[in-house]
Amino acid sequence: MSEKSQETLSNLLKEARRFPPPAELAESANVTAAAYEQASADRLGFWAEQAERLEWSKPWDEVLDWSDPPFAKWFVGGELNVAYNCVDRHVEAGLGARVAYHWEGEPGDTRTITYAELQREVAKAANALVELGVEKGDRVAIYLPMIPELPISMLACARIGATHSVVFGGFSAEALRTRIDDAQAKLVITADGGYRRGKPSALKPTVDAAVERTPSVEHVLVVRRTGEDVARHDRDVWWEDVVERQSEEHAAQPHDAEHPLYILYTSGTTGKPKGILHTTGGYLTQTAYTHHAVFDLKPETDVYWCSADIGWVTGHSYIVYGPLANGATSVLYEGTPDTPHQGRWWEIIERYGVTLFYTAPTAIRTFMKWGDDIPARSDLSSLRLLGSVGEPINPEAYVWYREHIGAGRTPVVDTWWQTETGAIMISPLPGVTAGKPGAAMKPLPGIVADVVDDQGAPVPNGGGGFLVLKEPWPSMLRTVWGDDERFVKTYWSRFPGVYFAGDGAKRDEDGDIWLLGRVDDVMLVSGHNISTTEVESALVSHPKVAESAVVGATDPVTGQAIVAFVIPRGSAGEEVEGDDFAAELRNHVAHSLGPIAKPRQIMIVPELPKTRSGKIMRRLLRDVAENRGIGDVTTLADSTVMDLISQKQASAK
Ligand code: WT7
Repeated sequence: MSEKSQETLSNLLKEARRFPPPAELAESANVTAAAYEQASADRLGFWAEQAERLEWSKPWDEVLDWSDPPFAKWFVGGELNVAYNCVDRHVEAGLGARVAYHWEGEPGDTRTITYAELQREVAKAANALVELGVEKGDRVAIYLPMIPELPISMLACARIGATHSVVFGGFSAEALRTRIDDAQAKLVITADGGYRRGKPSALKPTVDAAVERTPSVEHVLVVRRTGEDVARHDRDVWWEDVVERQSEEHAAQPHDAEHPLYILYTSGTTGKPKGILHTTGGYLTQTAYTHHAVFDLKPETDVYWCSADIGWVTGHSYIVYGPLANGATSVLYEGTPDTPHQGRWWEIIERYGVTLFYTAPTAIRTFMKWGDDIPARSDLSSLRLLGSVGEPINPEAYVWYREHIGAGRTPVVDTWWQTETGAIMISPLPGVTAGKPGAAMKPLPGIVADVVDDQGAPVPNGGGGFLVLKEPWPSMLRTVWGDDERFVKTYWSRFPGVYFAGDGAKRDEDGDIWLLGRVDDVMLVSGHNISTTEVESALVSHPKVAESAVVGATDPVTGQAIVAFVIPRGSAGEEVEGDDFAAELRNHVAHSLGPIAKPRQIMIVPELPKTRSGKIMRRLLRDVAENRGIGDVTTLADSTVMDLISQKQASAK
């Protein structure tokens, strides 16, 4: 980050639309405004009360030990078993027949898993892990498609106290190898493959390549999913041989509240991936509470669907741990949104009567691009609440989501959090907050966040700066696996004593928080800090724009100049070639945000480069904008995208 980019960020975008909660939801909401007062009066007492939603084998002695910051210990001395809390206790409470997951494979095969069945499956898997020599404290790498064996494997690890490291199934052999190696995993759980885009997509060969050079791995446990031929090695064992014959009984032992539950690697912009470590009691407390509060889950009647992949933290916290701890019924879907056609997700919502739906802005913008008529073909009337996560949601995407998916009735909760925070931190409460399109609004009860300037001083309302978290929270990362120094340096050194999230943010006149993207993405134009997010939102508010990505390119006159990449919406594609459209968009941005934010150049493109978790890789677009060779594309979801964009660049010259 340059000196200059630490100046206060501009505050350009004005958004006046407000969506108060539906009366019915406000009346019956799980959490009311009183929670804010209760938590600010006694934050630790508030979290202690939330921890009571779990069953503890041994009560804690102290809610928080913060005597050695930034190394936190929550619920010190307490003991519990995560898998017991997510599964067995619901069965013991007589809810064994409740569906935990409505699973649907991409080819259309389905499986309904009740809590009673999940208990049996997890017990068998736990017994198998023990037989394979996995002990409490060992690490297990999990590289699976979105099939039931994925949450079952995670819960089996949690049950015996093995620390799992789920690696997203789209990662390469090299990415998998470095993650296995860093965690020194003893076992890898994988499948022959999964289904993606209508055909089998192999996983086992990637594992075979990765474990050639990972001496820590003793066994590879393979689930048969596609039935395709795979190479067999001595270290391989098959799920159907080892797990299926196990006893359906497994006595869960309690683990310390600070026992390592999982490691999840986050790549960041530079350097080797960081193994973010989450532990047991505080993590489960905050994922369960936030799932209850933010989604207003009524476990008896709701059907909840988070469309993320379990390979990301969203899936860990809001497909597996939070929902199961709350006894929710969830949908689990294996495949892509456009297989066999672009209405697949809406058919799933109709089929299972999904009431609560959680997805990402990148998906929402893709649906906008595909056209309004596609969701209109399905009956989405079961939905009562929509959530968003992963990036700032552009106001126009928020409004589209609410209108076209939520029939103009459902609240939209824009939830800000990170792999590192473990659970939602800033979000509307659906029964309390009058939502503003594009704003994450307020820290949840029990969370203390602020927007500060480059000196660490809080900005006044109307100001912009850096998002920080001022008090520890139960689901916070405990360290970077094996690298305490990097943990301190990355998150706790920019501003002494507080957690630096790396995101730009602003406070509006009401004091509500808007996220402005990663600090590294802020542009400095003629001495003004302008956020990429705000310019992108202005572009997306044009009726013919589906999606955009904005970068700052070095400019001899203005320092940096704004260069925008734009994907036209639906049928607009054919009519929008040419300079007139670019000029129209430049004027539109100038009109929405002010002349300072007018892009120097607009390129109309068919696709944008995204990571596999759906984030725009602005670094690559900066290479295009600055007429350089394109840098490392190995983490792109689709590596051909940059070729398409480069062709556009060449033809524009
Ligand atoms: C970064 C964390 C949290 C699970 C998925 C991403 C961005 C996330 C929002 C939001 C604006 C958001 C931030 C954050 N982000 N949610 N609602 N509004 N920005 O986890 O991969 O660790 O990424 O995603 O930049 O720092 P992650």
